[in-house]
Amino acid sequence: MRVLVVGGGGREHALVWKLAQSPRVEKIYAAPGNAGIAQLAECVPISSGDIEGLLVFAKEQGIGLTFVGPEDALVKGIVDRFEAEGVRIFGPRAAAAQLEGSKAFAKDLMKKYEIPTGEYQTFTDYDNALAFVWELDERCVIKADGLAAGKGVIVADTDTEAMAAVKEMMLDRAFGAAGDKIVVEERLVGQEVSVLAFTDGRTVVPLLAAQDHKQVFDGDKGPNTGGMGAYCPAPIYTFELAQTVVPKILEATVLAMESEGCPYRGILYAGLMITEKGPKVLEFNVRFGDPEAQPLLAMLDTDLVDIAEAVIDGRLSELEIRWKPGAAVCVVAAAGGYPGSYAKGEPIEGLDTAADDDADVIVFHAGTKLEGDRVVTAGGRVLGVTAVADDIPSAISKVYEAVGKISFKDMYYRTDIGQKAIGE
Ligand code: AMP
Ligand code: GLY
Repeated sequence: MRVLVVGGGGREHALVWKLAQSPRVEKIYAAPGNAGIAQLAECVPISSGDIEGLLVFAKEQGIGLTFVGPEDALVKGIVDRFEAEGVRIFGPRAAAAQLEGSKAFAKDLMKKYEIPTGEYQTFTDYDNALAFVWELDERCVIKADGLAAGKGVIVADTDTEAMAAVKEMMLDRAFGAAGDKIVVEERLVGQEVSVLAFTDGRTVVPLLAAQDHKQVFDGDKGPNTGGMGAYCPAPIYTFELAQTVVPKILEATVLAMESEGCPYRGILYAGLMITEKGPKVLEFNVRFGDPEAQPLLAMLDTDLVDIAEAVIDGRLSELEIRWKPGAAVCVVAAAGGYPGSYAKGEPIEGLDTAADDDADVIVFHAGTKLEGDRVVTAGGRVLGVTAVADDIPSAISKVYEAVGKISFKDMYYRTDIGQKAIGE
């Protein structure tokens, strides 16, 4: 089978790496891909937002399965378009992808179906939003309704910060139309955990629980990034917690979407806060997380093509999904300055020796490109170095040993990825 992976970051490199291990896959294409992906797949210069271009390519090449990495293509309806032309694709349709595409949609759904989440109000009028934030006694979180590349959430420490965020989104339109509607949400306190699940619209099969590290600096300090590292399984996600999360959050959401007339198929990603009053949903994503995909796919034992087909064909209940024993940790090597401005085009050294012939160390490329025969940096998050080992402490040692062999000018990484799992 010929497979197409849409996207060009670390998550997509992990998808390509996993799909390449399937005996059912004869050739992989990636659009647009990156320098690491190019070692396993043929990269084609079509952007992930060019749905018609991707569809034409998939039809011409006889692609048997398309896997979509980023959310924007899903929200824009890539699955609807491919399905209409009879081209097999994994992921939710546009109506279902609203779970990530509109925070107000997600919050309203949770409220209607009593899925645990923070209290909130939605606003389209600037003055009303400002007055509400001004009168609020508790600290709050301001969220742009639409997609804002992970930047549309401001966790405000003071009223002044909250009001500045409302102005930035609604008046200054920092995120364009995404901020014309905003959600003002109760600020939840606790530890975060990401629980992703495969679902065919009926059966829900959770993946190992993962933990992301969103802030740029050690100790969760500094501004939010797309994610500086991740690990799985997360010990905070206990058996007892799963007894609540699976029925009351994951299965309840899939049922709710069915009742709303937009059945959900693909990966459902629940970002949870484990509060004193139990788990509450912070956000839904409609795809694999990045970098969570890197450790999760490194640990997945079952063939991803088998899973994708079972999801598409509504036979997920028939498939057993297996995981490798042990744990995986992914450390993101970023360009100094990220998530602010940073340099590009810096040559990367040590890529060949980092894994040292150890199959349990994988250097996923996130923002790289080939310049002649040299691999150079091409993004803020450059690499997602991932190691699998018997347990989290061994995976941490292994991953940092590999990271230490890699260098590029102003390379930056957190040194505490995974520490939460073993107690700080
Ligand atoms: P989201 O894109 O909604 O997950 O928000 C990004 C990050 O902002 C989350 O991973 C949390 O760290 C934080 N966040 C979002 N909503 C809340 C909330 N209600 N309370 C506290 N932190 C939040
Ligand atoms: N790492 C968080 C996300 O992919 O949304």
